Amino acid sequence: MAFLVLLLLLNFVFNATNAQSTSSIIKPGSSLSPINNSYLLSPSGQFAFGFYRYKNGYSVGIWFENIQQKTVVWTANRDASPFPSDVTLVLTTEGTLIVRPKQGQDVLIADTSSDNVSRLATSASMLDSGNFVLLNSSGGIVWKSFDFPTDTILPGQRLSVTGKLVSSVAESDHGSGKFLILMQSDGNLVQYPVGAVLERGAAYWATNTFNAGYGVSLNLDGNGHLYLLNDTGFNIKSINKNYVNASGKSVYRATIDTDGIFRLYSHSSNRFDDWYTEWSSSNYRCDPLGLCGENSYCVMTDGEPVCQCPPHFNYINEKLKELGCRKNYSLVACDTRNGRLFDFLEVNDVSWKDDAYSSLSSMTKNSCRAECYQDCRCEAVVFENEVCKMMKLPLRFGRRVLSGQVTAFLIGGELAGVGTRKKKRKLRLDMLIISIAMACLTLGFLVVATIGVRKYRAYVRKYKRVLRLVNNRVAEDVALKSFSFEELKDATNNFVDVIGKGAYGTVFKGVLFDGERTVAIKRLEKVVAEGERDFLNEMKAIGKIHHKNLVRLLGYCYDGTNRLLVYEYMKNGSLADFLFKSNLKVNWEGRVEIVLSIARGICYLHEECETQIIHCDIKPENILMDDKGYAKIADFGLAKLLMPNQTRTYTEIRGTRGYVAPEWHRNLPITVKADVYSFGIMLFEIICCRRSVEADVPENEQVLAYWVIDCFKANEVEKLVQNDELVEKSKLEKMVKVGLWCTQDEASSRPSMKRVILMLEGTVNIPDPPPLSSFVSSP
Ligand SMILES: *[C@@H]1O[C@H](CO)[C@@H](O)[C@H](O)[C@H]1NC(C)=O
Ligand SMILES: *[C@@H]1O[C@H](CO)[C@@H](O)[C@H](O)[C@H]1NC(C)=O
Ligand SMILES: *[C@@H]1O[C@H](CO)[C@@H](O)[C@H](O)[C@H]1NC(C)=O
Ligand SMILES: *[C@@H]1O[C@H](CO)[C@@H](O)[C@H](O)[C@H]1NC(C)=O
Ligand SMILES: *[C@@H]1O[C@H](CO)[C@@H](O)[C@H](O)[C@H]1NC(C)=O
Ligand SMILES: *[C@@H]1O[C@H](CO)[C@@H](O)[C@H](O)[C@H]1NC(C)=O
Repeated sequence: MAFLVLLLLLNFVFNATNAQSTSSIIKPGSSLSPINNSYLLSPSGQFAFGFYRYKNGYSVGIWFENIQQKTVVWTANRDASPFPSDVTLVLTTEGTLIVRPKQGQDVLIADTSSDNVSRLATSASMLDSGNFVLLNSSGGIVWKSFDFPTDTILPGQRLSVTGKLVSSVAESDHGSGKFLILMQSDGNLVQYPVGAVLERGAAYWATNTFNAGYGVSLNLDGNGHLYLLNDTGFNIKSINKNYVNASGKSVYRATIDTDGIFRLYSHSSNRFDDWYTEWSSSNYRCDPLGLCGENSYCVMTDGEPVCQCPPHFNYINEKLKELGCRKNYSLVACDTRNGRLFDFLEVNDVSWKDDAYSSLSSMTKNSCRAECYQDCRCEAVVFENEVCKMMKLPLRFGRRVLSGQVTAFLIGGELAGVGTRKKKRKLRLDMLIISIAMACLTLGFLVVATIGVRKYRAYVRKYKRVLRLVNNRVAEDVALKSFSFEELKDATNNFVDVIGKGAYGTVFKGVLFDGERTVAIKRLEKVVAEGERDFLNEMKAIGKIHHKNLVRLLGYCYDGTNRLLVYEYMKNGSLADFLFKSNLKVNWEGRVEIVLSIARGICYLHEECETQIIHCDIKPENILMDDKGYAKIADFGLAKLLMPNQTRTYTEIRGTRGYVAPEWHRNLPITVKADVYSFGIMLFEIICCRRSVEADVPENEQVLAYWVIDCFKANEVEKLVQNDELVEKSKLEKMVKVGLWCTQDEASSRPSMKRVILMLEGTVNIPDPPPLSSFVSSP
């Protein structure tokens, strides 16, 4: 009997829903409500639009109706709180689709106004493609859900330029989650953690189609083929190459899942089946960066990604492990002369993919540790493929790395580390000395006092010698190394491999430290520094400078009349190669990044070093590119070596024609603003990818700085970038304005490098540069 009632009831419910959802169209006047469970069905019954249960209320969305799981593919206002059950969804006579609560404000579901034109919708329809559309009186589409994807695209739907899919928080919570996939304007389709979009190093998957130009879109067709089309409609990349036109599969969807992986799913025509994964962006579920919070790392445990803390770190919240970890020790103060006294905590096969403040290539494990040891900022190093990444806490993007030899070393402060051990030993030695001294003294009293005293002194001397030895060994490991001329001659194979020629001398490629490390060796010409002391002091000053945008000095040679400098080797050549050689083009975003890196490097020299350093020869040839594409400034500090007192005037001009500031010609004092000027000229070159002076172009374009002014005045800055490159005009104008400020004739009108960085980062407004006619007066 009870069974019959249940059956009747079920039948009733089924009929009721059926009755209420036959229509695929909403007209003004009709409405949907969570109470009577009404929703809109597409003609074939595949998709439904309406209210679905969400948390303790309801959301408005689209789901697969004829699949048992009722998978949601779209949600309106996904991050808004759920609706109570007594609301209605209506198409108003004003032509907007809203949810109307019993009390309070209407909530807009589809914003049909764009470009200041409000479009009147007279009906809404759920299509069989899964596209929910609003139509005007003549049947034209005025709004469609396909234009506003959440975490899924369906066959026929397109993710166009700057479009993105953002993962959901959880299976049952369709709010915005941690990961996204972005169709970038450079043509690349890239996955990032939401908090680090466009950050270098934060991308964890990409199609690497960054040269495909503006206008690339992601498409999914009815055969389950995911592919990229370029602006002219060419298929430039099949993302799932091995897709098959399988029969029996009725539907597809591509979703960025809550775990950060982008997957293509298919479903058979049997409504009780599960979704089948046809393709996924990664098979390793720890790949998505940012799955685990700061300092923690992702490890696969029983087929699930789990966040773990390194030794001596604790979970911030034991119940929410993905929040990350915090260290359970504090660091001992750092002594710049002797480095720090600490132990390393070693974590094997774990990498933190976070940005390093300094990255050194061609290293060994030991030299990598040594680098960290001497640098007071270093709190951890990740050593991977001979690259030593020096980092500060907190570390982001940690995960177990399956392939390759990776070791991370984290500094463990006041643990049973070298520091405390050394102190203890010292203490014990002291005690030993004292007891021996006491014994000697006692003996001395008894026998001959002087013998005892001598013995005591001898112990002290011996003890001190041991300490000195220890310190020297530490210093040798880490400090600037002094080389003999013979050593460097061997290292360079008698100076055969020339890799560059600069204002200060010729640069050779060499191999040092028993073949461990490739280096660049610069043989200086015309050094005027008087005496050994000056040279060595300068070397020490330069050797102390560590910044990720400055080329690192590793050692020097002061041998007879020979003066050589040993630098880290930058295998990607100079910025000049990248800008002026047609086959190595860097896109706009890349160039903006390079400009910022250089600005940060110069700012460091001007404002953050122990003694201020004016570079005096900023130009693209002196900006080197490392294997990661980071820009680093070379040759800093050398101007001083060749011209000891920079703040006074000199008749001989340093620097390179085309880049030198007007004050050089006018016998005015040279200040840091001379570098700002050169930076400005180089900024123009980076914007335009051409040299500051070029002969075979129309006459009005020959001097780049004048041409820039002309274009800026005429409001035609877009002429400055290559025709094939689409750059937002406002961004371009910003860069041009910064350049115009930097190249002001009057040194005092030019901004400081710190200000330049703020301008570039958009932290401060950039005023219009003063009238620019005076520029031409420079002799
Ligand atoms: C569902 O309820 C709403 C609000 O009470 C009503 O306007 C609508 O007509 C109902 N739909 C059906 C199909 O009964
Ligand atoms: C939209 O209107 C605002 C102010 O009403 C105006 O500044 C803007 O230029 C308009 N945009 C378009 C695309 O017409
Ligand atoms: C309806 O929309 C279409 C396409 O958006 C448009 O061309 C047409 O003029 C619109 N008709 C009315 C009556 O607004
Ligand atoms: C699209 O790709 C085709 C073939 O590779 C190419 O000829 C065309 O120039 C591309 N279009 C754009 C806008 O880059
Ligand atoms: C899949 O089918 C479509 C049309 O049904 C056809 O155009 C396409 O070439 C097929 N692709 C493959 C890989 O068989
Ligand atoms: C820190 O963690 C280590 C091991 O992870 C543990 O042995 C030590 O007792 C902890 N120290 C504190 C102060 O909690």
